[in-house]
Amino acid sequence: MRDQAEQLRVLAKTLKHRVECDIKGNQKKTRVIAVTSGKGGVGKTNFTVNFALALMSFGQKVIILDADLGLANIDVLLGVKPEYNLYHVLKGQKNIKDIITTGPRGLQLIAGGSGMQELANLRRWQVEQFISKLEQLEGMADILIIDTAAGLSRNVMSFLLSSDEVIVITTPEPTAITDAYGLVKAMTSKKKQGVVHLVVNKVESAQEADITASKFTIVAEKFLKLNIGHLGFIFDDPNVSKSVKIQEPFMLKFPKTSASQCIQRIAAQLLNEVYIPEPGGVKAFFGKIMKFWG
Ligand SMILES: Nc1ncnc2c1ncn2[C@@H]1O[C@H](COP(=O)(O)OP(=O)(O)OP(=O)(O)O)[C@@H](O)[C@H]1O
Ligand SMILES: [Mg+2]
Repeated sequence: MRDQAEQLRVLAKTLKHRVECDIKGNQKKTRVIAVTSGKGGVGKTNFTVNFALALMSFGQKVIILDADLGLANIDVLLGVKPEYNLYHVLKGQKNIKDIITTGPRGLQLIAGGSGMQELANLRRWQVEQFISKLEQLEGMADILIIDTAAGLSRNVMSFLLSSDEVIVITTPEPTAITDAYGLVKAMTSKKKQGVVHLVVNKVESAQEADITASKFTIVAEKFLKLNIGHLGFIFDDPNVSKSVKIQEPFMLKFPKTSASQCIQRIAAQLLNEVYIPEPGGVKAFFGKIMKFWG
């Protein structure tokens, strides 16, 4: 009788242990996505900020990391003034968790330092040490988006090779496409696996985006044996520049503008959600019906 009770106690203990291990093991992992480009000025930073807000509208908890070391400017786009930035982390004065700033709608930002030569010229071990510190953020958000500098520098490569997914931004200009291809080529020469998505920015039409994306994906598949997903496109939209000038993300200031709608669609695509464009209301519904029957 005593033996049986003892066996039951051991069984219960083992079960409890297993359940605890399962819970720990299943702790939700943060999806790390780097945003990059070959050529500069193609719209990475604007995309990062507004994409983060779009993902948040789907209920995702998002942290942005401004990793354009030395020329970081996401704080400027958001109109926030963080007290601390990556410089303080790299100097060992602060932990990453301590320097998270809250922006509009609760968007979380880890600001990079701007105008600091030291940040732009980090040694390889310093970048690697910093990337390993990012582990502290595990579980704090569903998605961590890293905005990088343009180009093939070692700093940028370290971030790209450490991320789960990379979003490459290009415009339809041949120079931007060629540089984006060069970047992806350099990346795949170091890391065979990994998910790469393409976003075509500043397009005049959906057709222009399709032509740009298919040129890119076909060449990448043929010469790099890399399957790149076309995540979406963003129209060239004058409201983007307007929102930069007033330091308010266009996703919030102009939610119905074409660039916002495109980014919302890209966020839906990334999350495999169905995108329902801004409802036009009952009036618009009747308007459409009248067109069919009128
Ligand atoms: N869809 C768009 N329509 C119109 N203008 C855009 C669009 N996206 C970005 N821009 C403009 O392009 C310029 C560069 O944007 P942004 O700073 O986001 O690029 P970047 O790739 O981060 O640049 P850098 O390589 O210097 O970091 C800005 O002036 C912005 O207003
Ligand atoms: Mg930028």
